Amino acid sequence: MMKQLLLPFSLVFFLHCTTTLAQAPAPSGPTNITAILEKAGQYSTLIRLLQNTRLGDQINTQLNNSNQGLTVFAPTDNAFSSLKSGTLNSLTDQQKVQLLQFHVIPSFLSISQFQTMSNPMLTQAGNSNSGKFPLNVTTSGTLVNISTGIVNASVANTIYTDSQLAVYQVDKVLLPLDIFRPSAPAPAPTKPLKISPSPSPVGPSHVTSVDSSGAMGMIRNAAVSFGVAVISIFFVSMKS
Ligand SMILES: *[C@@H]1O[C@H](CO)[C@@H](O)[C@H](O)[C@H]1NC(C)=O
Ligand SMILES: *[C@@H]1O[C@H](CO)[C@@H](O)[C@H](O)[C@H]1NC(C)=O
Ligand SMILES: *[C@@H]1O[C@H](CO)[C@@H](O)[C@H](O)[C@H]1NC(C)=O
Ligand SMILES: *[C@@H]1O[C@H](CO)[C@@H](O)[C@H](O)[C@H]1NC(C)=O
Ligand SMILES: *[C@@H]1O[C@H](CO)[C@@H](O)[C@H](O)[C@H]1NC(C)=O
Repeated sequence: MMKQLLLPFSLVFFLHCTTTLAQAPAPSGPTNITAILEKAGQYSTLIRLLQNTRLGDQINTQLNNSNQGLTVFAPTDNAFSSLKSGTLNSLTDQQKVQLLQFHVIPSFLSISQFQTMSNPMLTQAGNSNSGKFPLNVTTSGTLVNISTGIVNASVANTIYTDSQLAVYQVDKVLLPLDIFRPSAPAPAPTKPLKISPSPSPVGPSHVTSVDSSGAMGMIRNAAVSFGVAVISIFFVSMKS
């Protein structure tokens, strides 16, 4: 008699326990990017930046409010320490925020979804036009590479993923062109307007002015771009 009563009861109890357990992995309360990175280890620089800029709080709030989700590229401490020394200190507060925002895609992306994204991708830093904050992704199967025009990085690992937030380890700090595009060294205050080193006006205006020979125009254009790129690389090296 007792046994017959107990069996259904314990079954119900058992079911109750398993459903409770199944829900357990989701941390109580809203998703917390800092806690995720702390748990993963080797992200202390990123955590410090997220805290100093308050972007960590912002990400948490966004996760709580948006249904698009977020994707975060997390450079390791090694990635930060392999930057040229003084790189972070040379940034203004706003640039630090932009640098971090450049590591955040305003939607949830699984690894396989990267294959269908078109370049350049829009990050939370905004404007993905060339020279601003473009971020390109190339994939081969589950391998994902990222190019910013300054650095080429690889997605090394999935740190965290749920249906709303994906956090991927990247082996390099993603340096955006807008901040790290090398500029002319300390131009005299009166001159910059005359010899603007900004590559954007160079392109279109040249194409239209040499319309007599489109091919030559393109070659010249390519040469100018290449020159700019070489100078850029030169100044990046100089900065070290
Ligand atoms: C998120 O996690 C960090 C580190 O564990 C903690 O200091 C912070 O208070 C948490 N934030 C919230 C909103 O729970
Ligand atoms: C999350 O959203 C709920 C309601 O949308 C709000 O009550 C709560 O304060 C939010 N929590 C955080 C940490 O933003
Ligand atoms: C990613 O970059 C590595 C070199 O860092 C290269 O060997 C590999 O072919 C690249 N893969 C893709 C999909 O671009
Ligand atoms: C990113 O992709 C766009 C579109 O394919 C291309 O025009 C641009 O040159 C690429 N930039 C880099 C840095 O790879
Ligand atoms: C990034 O990769 C592209 C194409 O693979 C290459 O042309 C470029 O030089 C690389 N840039 C850096 C900074 O390594």
